[in-house]
Amino acid sequence: MKTLNLTVNGKGTSAAVEPRTHLADFLREDCLLTGTHLGCEHGVCGACTVLKDGRPVRSCLTYAVSCEGASVQSIEGLDDDPLMVRLRDSFSAEHALQCGYCTPGMLVTARDIVQRFAGQSLSDARLRQELSGNLCRCTGYTGIVKAIQRVLRQPEELPIASAPASTLTALQMDHYTRLPLEEGAMAGPAAAASSSDGDGRRIEAAFELDHPSEAVWRALRDDIQGTVACMPGLELRSVSETGEVDGVFHVGMGPISARIAGEGRVVFDDAACSGRVEGAGKDGGSGSRARGSVTFTVQDAGHGRSSMGIVMAFELTGALAQFSRGSLVQDIVRLLIEQFRVNLDARLRGEEAPSGKALNPLSLLWLSLRSRFRSWFGKG
Ligand code: FES
Ligand code: FES
Repeated sequence: MKTLNLTVNGKGTSAAVEPRTHLADFLREDCLLTGTHLGCEHGVCGACTVLKDGRPVRSCLTYAVSCEGASVQSIEGLDDDPLMVRLRDSFSAEHALQCGYCTPGMLVTARDIVQRFAGQSLSDARLRQELSGNLCRCTGYTGIVKAIQRVLRQPEELPIASAPASTLTALQMDHYTRLPLEEGAMAGPAAAASSSDGDGRRIEAAFELDHPSEAVWRALRDDIQGTVACMPGLELRSVSETGEVDGVFHVGMGPISARIAGEGRVVFDDAACSGRVEGAGKDGGSGSRARGSVTFTVQDAGHGRSSMGIVMAFELTGALAQFSRGSLVQDIVRLLIEQFRVNLDARLRGEEAPSGKALNPLSLLWLSLRSRFRSWFGKG
């Protein structure tokens, strides 16, 4: 047994638990909070969804001991939450429940969606994707979608201040607990650094451009299609006025290649000259899934030059997960960023737009191995 100290629904709690006890059992059996339901107990149905430090998690996949020092909110802890009150009313008005077994998890997820998409118009199709990690056997989802849309349509009333800033605004990956993909500081000049958090990866890079920062920022912000075309392998199929994008990323290394199709969102912060692209998608061939974010910042480097910092955070699951492990991935990303720099520089000089085609997988592997051999044998 281990002693666990955490906050549950705002109250400090201490208990002795077995290391194998999951959070749902702890809430139901130790805290007697039976509003958290268990359906599949292996991360598929979403009935057990609760908030851990403000983010939705599957409590059946979360060990209680991993919540040491955390703040957990179950459906009971959201009784007086103003947004939850509105969602509950809306679920009743739109007949969004029958047996109610899925409803606690559905409401917790709905609250997260409303916070993340506050003030935006969200298509029913996209909303259903966001809800794809919560299964309902009874309703057919129509009432649930209507209930959430009803709340989303009144953004002026939404208390959005508590929305976690780094939560992905793209597809909610069903079956997977979310991995926090956090922004980070800019790396040194032309440097690329990588770090791993579980199966997630975070890579930072920075480079200088021989163009003023205002020109670089304008080019990035005013022509999303052109910016995306600078990144080898990335193809944008559509971009909405609110920054929602739909695209494909072709990536390959050696015998492995993938075509990851998905959706995402682009946001710009003019004041900070920074932007963020977040998205998630799936490779139809291997069934692998990817999600991640790219944060970029443009700064004045003096003498008419600018520096650009890039932080990439991503998570791969399935056969492609081998890309997220080992240092080769750092080489691949560094090559992609270097090619992005070359293409962006050409674009800023008014030269022909880059093709946006993927680098040849074998050449990518060769370039990576060549730079590795050079560094091993001191020829770099
Ligand atoms: S019980 Fe946790 S996802 Fe189904
Ligand atoms: S209302 Fe019965 S499972 Fe959703």
